[in-house]
Amino acid sequence: MPQATISLHNKEFTPYLNEAELAAAVRQVAQRINQDYAGKTPLFIAVLNGSFMFAADLMKEVTIDCEISFIRVASYQGTSSTGEVKEILGLQDAVEGRHVVVLEDIVDTGHTMQMLLEQLGARNPASLEVATFLIKPDALQVPLNVKYQGLAIPNKFVVGYGLDYDGLGRNYRELYQAV
Ligand code: IMP
Repeated sequence: MPQATISLHNKEFTPYLNEAELAAAVRQVAQRINQDYAGKTPLFIAVLNGSFMFAADLMKEVTIDCEISFIRVASYQGTSSTGEVKEILGLQDAVEGRHVVVLEDIVDTGHTMQMLLEQLGARNPASLEVATFLIKPDALQVPLNVKYQGLAIPNKFVVGYGLDYDGLGRNYRELYQAV
Protein backbone atom coordinates (compact mmCIF):
# COMPACT_ATOMS: atom_id res chain seq x y z
CA MET A 1 0.00 0.00 0.00
CA PRO A 2 1.31 3.48 -0.83
CA GLN A 3 1.86 5.69 2.16
CA ALA A 4 -0.32 8.65 2.99
CA THR A 5 0.71 12.23 2.30
CA ILE A 6 4.40 12.90 2.93
CA SER A 7 6.15 16.07 3.98
CA LEU A 8 9.59 17.06 2.58
CA HIS A 9 11.16 20.35 3.67
CA ASN A 10 7.68 21.22 4.99
CA LYS A 11 6.11 20.81 1.55
CA GLU A 12 3.25 18.33 1.20
CA PHE A 13 3.09 15.58 -1.44
CA THR A 14 0.24 13.12 -2.03
CA PRO A 15 0.46 9.59 -3.48
CA TYR A 16 0.21 9.75 -7.27
CA LEU A 17 1.37 6.51 -8.97
CA ASN A 18 1.94 3.21 -7.19
CA GLU A 19 4.74 0.69 -7.59
CA ALA A 20 2.82 -1.53 -10.01
CA GLU A 21 2.06 1.41 -12.30
CA LEU A 22 5.70 2.47 -12.31
CA ALA A 23 6.91 -1.08 -12.95
CA ALA A 24 4.55 -1.45 -15.91
CA ALA A 25 5.88 1.77 -17.43
CA VAL A 26 9.49 0.61 -17.06
CA ARG A 27 8.71 -2.82 -18.54
CA GLN A 28 7.01 -1.27 -21.56
CA VAL A 29 10.10 0.83 -22.31
CA ALA A 30 12.44 -2.17 -21.81
CA GLN A 31 10.41 -4.37 -24.15
CA ARG A 32 10.60 -1.81 -26.94
CA ILE A 33 14.35 -1.41 -26.42
CA ASN A 34 14.82 -5.19 -26.46
CA GLN A 35 13.17 -5.28 -29.87
CA ASP A 36 14.73 -2.16 -31.35
CA TYR A 37 18.32 -2.81 -30.22
CA ALA A 38 18.69 -6.56 -30.65
CA GLY A 39 22.17 -7.23 -32.04
CA LYS A 40 23.26 -3.58 -31.57
CA THR A 41 24.75 -3.71 -28.03
CA PRO A 42 23.42 -0.27 -27.02
CA LEU A 43 25.33 2.01 -24.65
CA PHE A 44 22.93 3.39 -22.05
CA ILE A 45 24.02 6.70 -20.59
CA ALA A 46 22.10 7.34 -17.39
CA VAL A 47 21.87 10.87 -16.05
CA LEU A 48 22.52 11.03 -12.29
CA ASN A 49 21.17 11.56 -9.75
CA GLY A 50 17.51 11.25 -10.61
CA SER A 51 17.67 8.32 -13.03
CA PHE A 52 19.37 5.80 -10.75
CA MET A 53 16.21 3.90 -9.81
CA PHE A 54 14.74 3.93 -13.33
CA ALA A 55 18.09 2.88 -14.80
CA ALA A 56 18.44 -0.01 -12.33
CA ASP A 57 14.92 -1.30 -12.87
CA LEU A 58 15.15 -0.86 -16.65
CA MET A 59 18.40 -2.81 -16.80
CA LYS A 60 16.76 -5.73 -15.00
CA GLU A 61 14.22 -5.93 -17.85
CA VAL A 62 16.71 -5.54 -20.71
CA THR A 63 17.54 -8.98 -22.05
CA ILE A 64 19.89 -8.08 -24.92
CA ASP A 65 23.64 -7.36 -24.70
CA CYS A 66 24.14 -3.78 -23.51
CA GLU A 67 26.45 -1.48 -21.56
CA ILE A 68 25.67 1.29 -19.12
CA SER A 69 27.57 4.38 -18.05
CA PHE A 70 26.65 7.24 -15.71
CA ILE A 71 27.01 10.98 -16.14
CA ARG A 72 26.02 14.07 -14.18
CA VAL A 73 24.53 17.39 -15.15
CA ALA A 74 23.95 19.92 -12.39
CA SER A 75 21.35 22.34 -13.70
CA TYR A 76 18.26 22.30 -11.55
CA GLN A 77 17.19 23.46 -8.08
CA GLY A 78 13.87 23.65 -6.27
CA THR A 79 10.52 23.22 -7.95
CA SER A 80 11.11 25.09 -11.20
CA SER A 81 13.82 24.77 -13.82
CA THR A 82 16.51 27.43 -13.65
CA GLY A 83 17.10 27.08 -17.34
CA GLU A 84 20.82 26.93 -16.62
CA VAL A 85 22.67 24.21 -18.41
CA LYS A 86 26.11 22.88 -17.60
CA GLU A 87 28.50 20.50 -19.24
CA ILE A 88 28.44 16.72 -19.04
CA LEU A 89 30.55 15.33 -16.20
CA GLY A 90 31.99 11.84 -15.98
CA LEU A 91 31.54 10.49 -19.50
CA GLN A 92 34.42 8.11 -19.96
CA ASP A 93 33.10 5.70 -22.56
CA ALA A 94 33.67 6.29 -26.24
CA VAL A 95 30.40 7.31 -27.87
CA GLU A 96 31.58 7.35 -31.47
CA GLY A 97 29.96 4.61 -33.49
CA ARG A 98 27.82 3.41 -30.58
CA HIS A 99 24.05 3.10 -30.40
CA VAL A 100 23.44 5.45 -27.48
CA VAL A 101 20.28 5.63 -25.38
CA VAL A 102 20.20 8.43 -22.81
CA LEU A 103 18.32 7.44 -19.64
CA GLU A 104 16.65 10.33 -17.82
CA ASP A 105 14.28 10.48 -14.86
CA ILE A 106 12.09 13.25 -16.22
CA VAL A 107 11.94 15.63 -19.16
CA ASP A 108 10.40 18.88 -17.93
CA THR A 109 11.28 21.96 -20.00
CA GLY A 110 13.56 19.80 -22.13
CA HIS A 111 16.56 22.13 -21.81
CA THR A 112 18.72 19.54 -20.07
CA MET A 113 18.00 16.89 -22.67
CA GLN A 114 18.51 19.31 -25.55
CA MET A 115 21.98 20.17 -24.20
CA LEU A 116 22.81 16.50 -23.67
CA LEU A 117 21.73 15.53 -27.17
CA GLU A 118 23.79 18.34 -28.69
CA GLN A 119 26.92 17.37 -26.76
CA LEU A 120 26.53 13.62 -27.28
CA GLY A 121 25.56 14.07 -30.93
CA ALA A 122 28.83 15.94 -31.52
CA ARG A 123 30.69 12.76 -30.56
CA ASN A 124 29.33 10.93 -33.62
CA PRO A 125 27.28 8.07 -32.17
CA ALA A 126 25.83 5.55 -34.64
CA SER A 127 22.41 6.50 -33.26
CA LEU A 128 21.14 8.60 -30.37
CA GLU A 129 17.78 8.23 -28.65
CA VAL A 130 16.21 9.18 -25.33
CA ALA A 131 14.44 6.96 -22.83
CA THR A 132 12.83 9.00 -20.09
CA PHE A 133 10.87 7.57 -17.22
CA LEU A 134 8.57 10.62 -17.05
CA ILE A 135 7.75 13.48 -19.38
CA LYS A 136 5.64 16.60 -18.81
CA PRO A 137 4.42 17.41 -22.34
CA ASP A 138 2.82 20.70 -21.24
CA ALA A 139 6.12 21.95 -19.77
CA LEU A 140 8.25 21.24 -22.85
CA GLN A 141 9.87 24.43 -24.17
CA VAL A 142 12.11 23.05 -26.90
CA PRO A 143 11.48 20.65 -29.80
CA LEU A 144 12.67 17.22 -28.71
CA ASN A 145 12.28 13.74 -30.11
CA VAL A 146 11.81 11.54 -27.03
CA LYS A 147 11.41 8.08 -28.49
CA TYR A 148 10.89 6.10 -25.29
CA GLN A 149 8.58 7.55 -22.65
CA GLY A 150 7.54 5.68 -19.52
CA LEU A 151 4.69 7.94 -18.51
CA ALA A 152 3.44 11.33 -19.66
CA ILE A 153 2.30 13.30 -16.61
CA PRO A 154 0.69 16.69 -15.94
CA ASN A 155 2.82 19.75 -15.28
CA LYS A 156 3.05 19.27 -11.52
CA PHE A 157 6.15 18.67 -9.41
CA VAL A 158 6.66 15.02 -8.46
CA VAL A 159 9.00 13.17 -6.09
CA GLY A 160 9.90 9.58 -5.34
CA TYR A 161 11.38 6.75 -7.39
CA GLY A 162 14.68 8.61 -7.67
CA LEU A 163 13.24 12.10 -8.06
CA ASP A 164 13.87 14.64 -5.33
CA TYR A 165 12.67 17.88 -3.88
CA ASP A 166 15.86 19.70 -2.84
CA GLY A 167 17.59 16.41 -2.13
CA LEU A 168 14.79 14.62 -0.31
CA GLY A 169 12.29 12.02 -1.49
CA ARG A 170 14.42 9.92 -3.84
CA ASN A 171 14.01 6.83 -1.66
CA TYR A 172 10.25 6.39 -2.01
CA ARG A 173 9.07 3.43 -4.08
CA GLU A 174 5.99 5.29 -5.31
CA LEU A 175 5.57 8.61 -7.06
CA TYR A 176 4.14 11.58 -5.12
CA GLN A 177 2.72 14.81 -6.46
CA ALA A 178 3.03 18.28 -4.93
CA VAL A 179 -0.25 19.33 -3.29
P1 IMP B 1 14.43 20.17 -17.72
O1 IMP B 1 15.77 20.64 -18.17
O2 IMP B 1 13.51 21.33 -17.38
O3 IMP B 1 13.76 19.21 -18.67
O4 IMP B 1 14.64 19.48 -16.33
C1 IMP B 1 15.07 18.19 -16.19
C2 IMP B 1 15.53 17.95 -14.78
O5 IMP B 1 14.80 18.72 -13.83
C3 IMP B 1 15.25 16.52 -14.40
O6 IMP B 1 16.33 15.69 -14.71
C4 IMP B 1 15.03 16.61 -12.91
O7 IMP B 1 16.25 16.54 -12.22
C5 IMP B 1 14.45 17.98 -12.68
N1 IMP B 1 12.97 17.96 -12.58
C6 IMP B 1 12.07 18.44 -13.46
N2 IMP B 1 10.82 18.25 -13.04
C7 IMP B 1 10.92 17.62 -11.85
C8 IMP B 1 9.94 17.11 -10.91
O8 IMP B 1 8.70 17.21 -11.08
N3 IMP B 1 10.44 16.51 -9.81
C9 IMP B 1 11.78 16.36 -9.56
N4 IMP B 1 12.71 16.81 -10.40
C10 IMP B 1 12.29 17.43 -11.55
